[in-house]
Amino acid sequence: MMSDRLSRFEIVTRQDFSDVTYLLEVRHPLMAKAARPGQFVIVMAHEHGERIPLTIADYDRERGTITLVIQAVGKTTREMQQSCKLGTTLYGMVGPMGIPSVTSHARKVVCVGGGLGVAPIFPQAKAFKQNGAYVIGVLGFRSKSLVFWEDKFRACCDEFIVCTDDGSAGIKGLVTEGIRLALAKHADIDEVVAIGPPVMMKGCAEATRERKVRTLVSLNPIMVDGTGMCGGCRVKIGDAVKFACVDGPDFDGHKVDFDDLMSRLRRYRDEERVALERWSESCRLMNQEPVLPLTGS
Ligand SMILES: Cc1cc2nc3c(=O)[nH]c(=O)nc-3n(C[C@H](O)[C@H](O)[C@H](O)COP(=O)(O)OP(=O)(O)OC[C@H]3O[C@@H](n4cnc5c(N)ncnc54)[C@H](O)[C@@H]3O)c2cc1C
Ligand code: FES
Repeated sequence: MMSDRLSRFEIVTRQDFSDVTYLLEVRHPLMAKAARPGQFVIVMAHEHGERIPLTIADYDRERGTITLVIQAVGKTTREMQQSCKLGTTLYGMVGPMGIPSVTSHARKVVCVGGGLGVAPIFPQAKAFKQNGAYVIGVLGFRSKSLVFWEDKFRACCDEFIVCTDDGSAGIKGLVTEGIRLALAKHADIDEVVAIGPPVMMKGCAEATRERKVRTLVSLNPIMVDGTGMCGGCRVKIGDAVKFACVDGPDFDGHKVDFDDLMSRLRRYRDEERVALERWSESCRLMNQEPVLPLTGS
């Protein structure tokens, strides 16, 4: 694991996919060299910033960059949305963290991404394809205007199913509908990999349970140190307690206690709301508009 607090990490590309989702391509040649699908980094945007885990959504060893795709959901991700412009730098970045995903064994695989999970599933879909698998991509968005990276997924998927809540692109329905279509068409799927909000990953695991198709999910509990020391990212997997930062983040979806994960994620909701309100107020005092209106989320 590498850490370099003294050199800052330049943002060489900034792209906004919607008013809440943005991409940062960050220069870090060593990280780009070491990164594997399924791994993540812990980022500090500035010296006094919170450390937040973000999945390595892509890496380019020749350019010496890694790509992060971020959803502005709270104080830090909204602050970064405002401050992380092209040419600015991130203060700290530690990683790559987590056990890389295994992508060498499956012959036919379904890669599922929804909401936050669309970008993080991309390196896995690409790696499965490079290892010779038949890849079926299933991506879920609320509506057509939020769809991104369709070209990148089409380039590495043999079949590609877009699902939208309102039916404005692809099929109308949740990603679980896409999984059901894939399972009905192919009797020989070895594995389903799903990344997204816990409730979505829970639905994906239920969609494959009866057919007993191995289903991996990438868990996103609250992380603090990312080293297995603090216990913040504790998750229940069958009878075992695991730490997602060092034992994961990929786990067998049929064994994950999603209800426990969701209740732990809700634990700091009041503190998160207060932090967001304080930041919005400081933006107001400095005559700067916060990027998004407060929603109380
Ligand atoms: C392994 C892993 C990979 C992730 N990859 C991505 C990614 O690629 N893109 C992305 O947008 N988000 C990703 N996340 C989630 C991201 O870390 C949180 O959205 C972010 O920390 C929220 O911070 P905030 O201050 O903006 O929001 P807050 O208001 O502090 O929190 C909003 C919600 O984010 C979650 N959260 C808060 N703090 C943390 C934390 N320290 N660790 C994990 N979750 C937290 C909680 O569910 C919380 O309810 C990942 C999380 C994990 C654990
Ligand atoms: S984040 Fe502290 S143990 Fe995983």
